[in-house]
Amino acid sequence: MALSIKDISKSFTSNQSSERFLSLDNVSLEIKDQEFVSLLGPSGCGKSTLLKIISGLLKPDTGGVWLDGEKLVRPGRSRGMVFQEYALFPWMTVEKNISVGLELVHTDKKEMGEKVRWAIDLVGLTGFEKSYPHQLSGGMKQRVAIARVLVMDSKVLLMDEPFGALDAFTRMNLQDDLIELWQKHRFTTVFVTHDVEEAIYLSDRIVVMTSSPGKIKTIVDVKMSRPRIRTSDEFSMIRNHVLEQYGYVDQRSIEYSI
Ligand SMILES: Nc1ncnc2c1ncn2[C@@H]1O[C@H](COP(=O)(O)OP(=O)(O)OP(=O)(O)O)[C@@H](O)[C@H]1O
Ligand SMILES: [Mg+2]
Repeated sequence: MALSIKDISKSFTSNQSSERFLSLDNVSLEIKDQEFVSLLGPSGCGKSTLLKIISGLLKPDTGGVWLDGEKLVRPGRSRGMVFQEYALFPWMTVEKNISVGLELVHTDKKEMGEKVRWAIDLVGLTGFEKSYPHQLSGGMKQRVAIARVLVMDSKVLLMDEPFGALDAFTRMNLQDDLIELWQKHRFTTVFVTHDVEEAIYLSDRIVVMTSSPGKIKTIVDVKMSRPRIRTSDEFSMIRNHVLEQYGYVDQRSIEYSI
């Protein structure tokens, strides 16, 4: 078992009152090596909080996270995070943005150059090495952010609504690119989204979360082979099943089944 999330609770004090707000209520989850898991749920159900706890950026009140049996207590190279806001350094070129993490761990110059070229090629940005973030589209910026994690050889890729700010077409292309990359390299992936279709298109399993307090409602196995067909009956059935977990019932699907 790669990533073990056990009995995680996390509360915050709200600004308005001194009351504690329970963002995560006793969340446990086992994620297998090389698995692609999505955390799906409405705004405020604790998806980002859980991801930050896995990354080590935030400490839980109770419980903990283990990677291959080792307790994770601080951020580290084993987990790389990609945010919605790209988080690139605007004054650095693509190449520099990707190598900055490697420089921090004092990687040999030649090895670093090779690694960076490998990652740039992998995310399809060859030719843009010397470009600055403002010269790139949103999709390209997100590729830089993904490359920055890949060069670190992180075992676990954590993504917090990475495609949330992109238009539908760019988003679909990047979903395909991400799946292709994952199929090649098989990093264990925890992907946060509130888009049901995105979760179904990408994931081996979808962790369906609900809010107040944030907890896991159920876990849905997506057994469809890849590449997945968004318009297929199987896809619609899974979508209806997920939506039912939130109390949405598609009347047409009921009519069809009668
Ligand atoms: N640093 C913080 N201080 C106070 N409250 C916080 C803090 N971080 C998160 N919360 C609260 O915890 C709850 C869960 O927040 P979180 O950001 O994890 O939700 P989310 O599922 O990622 O939502 P979204 O889809 O909008 O990004 C929210 O009610 C939020 O207000
Ligand atoms: Mg969030």
